[in-house]
Parts: sequence; C-alpha cells; structure tokens
Amino acid sequence: MMAACAFLLKGQKGRGGRRAARRRVGAGPAFGKGGEMTEDLEKLKSMAAEAALAEIEPGMTIGLGTGSTAALMIARLGERVAREGLAVRAVPTSARSEALARAAGIPLVGFDAVTELDLVIDGADQIAGPALDLLKGLGGALLWEKIVADTARRLVIIADHTKRVARLTPPLPIEVIPFGVEATARKIA
Ligand code: A5P
Repeated sequence: MMAACAFLLKGQKGRGGRRAARRRVGAGPAFGKGGEMTEDLEKLKSMAAEAALAEIEPGMTIGLGTGSTAALMIARLGERVAREGLAVRAVPTSARSEALARAAGIPLVGFDAVTELDLVIDGADQIAGPALDLLKGLGGALLWEKIVADTARRLVIIADHTKRVARLTPPLPIEVIPFGVEATARKIA
C-alpha cells in the first residue's frame, strides 16, 4: 500500500549535471478500510506547494511551472507578494501559468531579459527510482518547461505520492512545434 504524502525534490546544478534529493513534506493515510482514498490529493499538492515557497528568497527570479500543483504554488506566491511585499519576479512556463501569475499579481519578466533563474518550481507527471528520474509534459507545456528549467540554478519539483513510480512508463509526452511538423512526424513515426 502506498502512503499518501507530498514530495519536494530539489535539484542543484553542479559539475556533471544536476544532483537530486527528495524530502517528504506531508503524510497521511492513503486508503480507508474499503480501499477508498481518504487523503485529499488537493491538500497534499498544497503542502508541496507551500514547502516550495519556503525556498524563495527576496530578490529572486523564479520560473513558474505548469499544472495543478504549480497553480497552487502560483496562487500562494501571489498571496505572499500581496501580503508581505515579497520582491520577486517570475518567468512562466506556459500561457496558462502566465495568466495565473498575472491574476495573482506576481511581477513577470521577459525570458529574453534573464540569463539565469535562481529557482524554478514545477510539477511532474512521474518520479522514478532512486535517481528521481522525471517524466514531464503531460500538461502540454513540455518545451517551455524544459527550456526554463535548463536556465535554473535550482530546480524544485512539487508532487503528491501518486507521481512516485518504480520506473517511468508511457505515455511519453513529446511536443512538436509548427515549423517542420511533417519532418518531425516522419522522424518519430
Ligand atoms: C506540465 O506540462 C507537466 O509537466 C506538469 O508539471 C505535470 O503535468 C504535473 O501536473 P499536475 O500538478 O496537475 O499533476
């Protein structure tokens, strides 16, 4: 039986790639006697989102991920910006996250004006094995997410226990840009 919990994965850029570490940020019973889910997934996603906010320091430029967990983080970040006057600026990984950030009052900066992001906080579709391999992109923001994550000094992944798997399994998301779509389709067929 899998325990219900929320995860925060931290990846720090270093020589030879990114080193990843995992921290549990919330836990509870996953299933009732009848096998029904008793822990509210939304609550676990909120716990992970909240834990990620603790990683944010004033003055940081932050990458905002995409998906329902990232959306909770964006809303919470907006609350801190409004309540505490937290001085951050952000780069979204999708038009959806951009709209959420604008609505939450988070100052945005053009990606072209940024060479490195202090921190990127994003969700994941699957997290596998001891190396914490990630599968991302089922939310339809793969390309932007990858480009933004690549400029991050630190990458924090927020997820609930349903994302933890023994090994990455299909479907494997791909994103195809309009330019050369026929050529790409032939290549991956
Ligand atoms: C977006 O393209 C994905 O990489 C998301 O990060 C992923 O789908 C997680 O979404 P949820 O937080 O909604 O599960």
